[in-house]
Amino acid sequence: MSAIFQKPIVLITAGPTREAIDPVRYITNHSSGKMGYAIAESFLEKGFAVVLVSGPVTLKLAHPNLTNIAVTSADEMYNACRPYFLTAQIAVFAAAVADYKSAEVCTQKMKKSGNELNLRLVKNVDIAYEFGQLKQKGQLSVGFALETNDEEQNALKKLNTKNLDMVILNSVQDEGATFGYDTNKITIINQDLVSRTFPLKSKKEVGKDIADAAISYANNQSS
Ligand code: CTP
Ligand code: CA
Repeated sequence: MSAIFQKPIVLITAGPTREAIDPVRYITNHSSGKMGYAIAESFLEKGFAVVLVSGPVTLKLAHPNLTNIAVTSADEMYNACRPYFLTAQIAVFAAAVADYKSAEVCTQKMKKSGNELNLRLVKNVDIAYEFGQLKQKGQLSVGFALETNDEEQNALKKLNTKNLDMVILNSVQDEGATFGYDTNKITIINQDLVSRTFPLKSKKEVGKDIADAAISYANNQSS
């Protein structure tokens, strides 16, 4: 772990979270982490110090200005972000956080019995929402909205509920724009309701578009 904190700091969450059921089983999703890592790379190229809090992914990123923190569950991701949030100029919540976790985590492997198994799930902490409540003037937060229907309406609801400045809308309807692909197609909606739709691009290029949009929005807010 290393970072040079004289530079402006960007806090980024990335990848999936993994919620244990017992020592050998868990709940997760298909997030590869590619989008969050691409955003991290773009900010590093622009001279920012990046704190990347990442769920389990196979990606690797190394840079002198990168602090890379590996976590597993949503609770760990939230706790890992806490020491950094208030020092970050920009926070990007790119992680696909599991919405629910198992109510009880068995310490021993669950044995098979009967024809049905009911698993009780409880809601996970909403990391973007919690930091939205703590956000100070001058801080900018960016979230994602992955939607299948009523896309703009749902994205705007997330923008407001989570006190985001910018929401990146991904539509599952768009071929090549979901989990696992190397490409993405996004619409960026700002708090001032300016909306911009980009063509299908590589995630690397989309990461640059998101970093550029966040930096120019932050500059406009402070001028
Ligand atoms: N998010 C988060 N913590 C959670 C859930 C979501 O930080 N527990 C963040 C995501 O990183 C993303 C934004 O909130 O930036 C929206 O995530 P999404 O899953 O689209 O929205 P939810 O609020 O979880 O609603 P739903 O899944 O029901 O659409
Ligand atoms: Ca969710």
